[in-house]
Amino acid sequence: RALDGEASFDAVIAADQKIEPRDAMPDAYRAGLIRQIAQHAHSEIIGMQPEGNWISRAPSLRRKAILLAKVQDEAGHGLYLYAAAETLGVSRAELDTALLTGKQKYSSIFNYPTLSWADMGAIGWLVDGAAIVNQVPLCRCSYGPYARAMIRVCKEESFHQRQGYQSLYVLAQGTPEQRAMAQDAVDRWWYPSLAMFGPPDADSTHSAQSMAWKVKRFSNDELRQRFVDMCVPQAEILGVTLPDPNLTWNELRGHYDYTSPDFDELMRVVKGDGPCSRQRLAHRNRAHEDGAWVREAAAAYAAKKNRKVMA
Ligand code: 3HC
Repeated sequence: RALDGEASFDAVIAADQKIEPRDAMPDAYRAGLIRQIAQHAHSEIIGMQPEGNWISRAPSLRRKAILLAKVQDEAGHGLYLYAAAETLGVSRAELDTALLTGKQKYSSIFNYPTLSWADMGAIGWLVDGAAIVNQVPLCRCSYGPYARAMIRVCKEESFHQRQGYQSLYVLAQGTPEQRAMAQDAVDRWWYPSLAMFGPPDADSTHSAQSMAWKVKRFSNDELRQRFVDMCVPQAEILGVTLPDPNLTWNELRGHYDYTSPDFDELMRVVKGDGPCSRQRLAHRNRAHEDGAWVREAAAAYAAKKNRKVMA
């Protein structure tokens, strides 16, 4: 069903149906999706670094195997999302270059350091928890390949969140040192996780158009609020304190009142001034250079195979 013309595009969006790669679509819709899906994919790939550096220091073989599986999943999510972006007419090489040169970004959250083993639990619980809150609505996004990629990603993300929460639970029920380590990690990851949802709605440049095109289904602040409401009871079960003295249930609103993250800090981190921004991009560039021989070998093998087929 290759759609033609804007009228049919608008009709498909209005009917809550899916736009597919060969359908006619406004250039701005295509460009906006390439921007978001590419940055989402870059986030998955860069997100492997903060967790990857604890694989060799996991406290047990079981924890090491779980963390290894999670980091491998993130690589898969990245490849899935790069493939979804390619259906919009952009090549993998262009996307790699956009990340490596800093032209395209990745999620602010991965520019923070992972200082202790408890960070692995805090990231699973909070960062993957926030990712789930953000990604479940994206399963109903109007662009078919992105929505379908999200369905698979969300299933694996639930495992990521569960393993992080369980690991933090063990620490929070452990020795005083372990409890202190868990609390310290929650203190450091709480506000950056709230910031993951983006600037406040009033400062969101893309939300109005993204919601009109049914890419973004809920606003940044709506999802942030949903995340806070979800985390408060979970923190109580864990026995950790969320680092926000203003966190209180508001009966009138039916939600928790909370202190917003520092949005000036978010914009500084988004512009490349995060605690680990330079290190993350340098690491990714080194990995890309180190992997050049693999790409060349794969290309040479493919060319040889094609010559055989053509002969
Ligand atoms: N980190 C980096 N940049 C951010 C950001 C963040 N946390 N939040 C907002 N921005 C940027 C936007 O990209 C935009 O800049 P741009 O025009 O240069 O792209 C600008 O700030 C204004 O923000 P908007 O709210 O107008 O932008 P969006 O409508 O795109 O909303 C978003 C931001 C909610 C992150 C949206 O892009 C989105 O839902 N993206 C898909 C989800 C995603 O990327 N998640 C990454 C989290 S990591 C992850 O999921 C991996 C998991 O395994 C942990």
